[in-house]
Amino acid sequence: MTQPTFKPGQIWLDTAGKPIQAHGGGILFDKGTYYWYGENRETPTRKIHEIADWDCKRTDVIGISCYSSPDLYHWKNEGVVLTTIPDDPAHDLHPSKVVERPKVIYNDSTGKYVMWLHIDTWDYKYAATGVAISDNPTGPFRYLGSFKPNGADSRDMTVFKDSRGEAYLFHSSEWNKTMYVTPLADDYLSTGKTLARIFIDQSREAPAVFKRNGKYHIITSGCTGWDPNQAQSAVADAVTGPWETQENPCRGKDAAITFYAQSTFVFPVAGYKDAYIFMADIWNKDDLENSRYVWLPVRFEGDSPVIEWRDEWDLSVFNSD
Ligand code: GAL
Repeated sequence: MTQPTFKPGQIWLDTAGKPIQAHGGGILFDKGTYYWYGENRETPTRKIHEIADWDCKRTDVIGISCYSSPDLYHWKNEGVVLTTIPDDPAHDLHPSKVVERPKVIYNDSTGKYVMWLHIDTWDYKYAATGVAISDNPTGPFRYLGSFKPNGADSRDMTVFKDSRGEAYLFHSSEWNKTMYVTPLADDYLSTGKTLARIFIDQSREAPAVFKRNGKYHIITSGCTGWDPNQAQSAVADAVTGPWETQENPCRGKDAAITFYAQSTFVFPVAGYKDAYIFMADIWNKDDLENSRYVWLPVRFEGDSPVIEWRDEWDLSVFNSD
């Protein structure tokens, strides 16, 4: 058998031979299996002419897809695990809304899988976060509703589960100018008071948070809609900061625009030492369904993550445990 590989930027087929639809996604590792959740965008892309100040393109919402894998190379489509509500135009999950950047974490005390996601109106003016819950990683997820954490805007976001089970929502707020770090309640279904405003007035979004050797890391993008821009990493001793900004973690051709991609998640690979994968989206804004994925290994220079472009790679770049 030939060694399977990752081919960043190329079409990635699932085990049934269909292109994977899991954009703006994240990974959950649960009982030996990886689950990849993301936006299913298998509908035509439309330009939203009512919005004049930025190039708004959208697809009607289909829902959140889930794929499962034993090895990170081969992904089985588990279907749409959070579905739309087509009959109620006012519902957050109506196809006319915005449902983006799903992230799922497992709650060890309640035994539930909890999904957090960006919920918005078609014009991105509602700026809220939504929560859904399931007994199984492959759903179905039951939608619990949306809210603005402590009354504040929440657009691009992620959730990060720390080593002792405490979890945090990182969300772009104040019209995307400043990022907030807000703790989740013990059951992960609501938030507490925001603990920190970070990257104040720096307009960062697309947060990907991870922990290594006791340090917290975050990779973000700038705010240019579907168009690529330069990534930035930062490191801290606590989730609340202070966050020390580092240089662009990307290296090589097109590193100044994150290889045409935008960050969405970073996760540790089980069974390997010091092994992290950076996940990003190459948005095809005229045909969002045909957006591509970039998965690249992260290496470290001291406490600075470094992400180099590779046309093709496999997990042997990492050292076994
Ligand atoms: C980006 C954001 C994406 C999507 C897009 C819409 O800034 O990261 O998740 O919301 O804008 O144009």
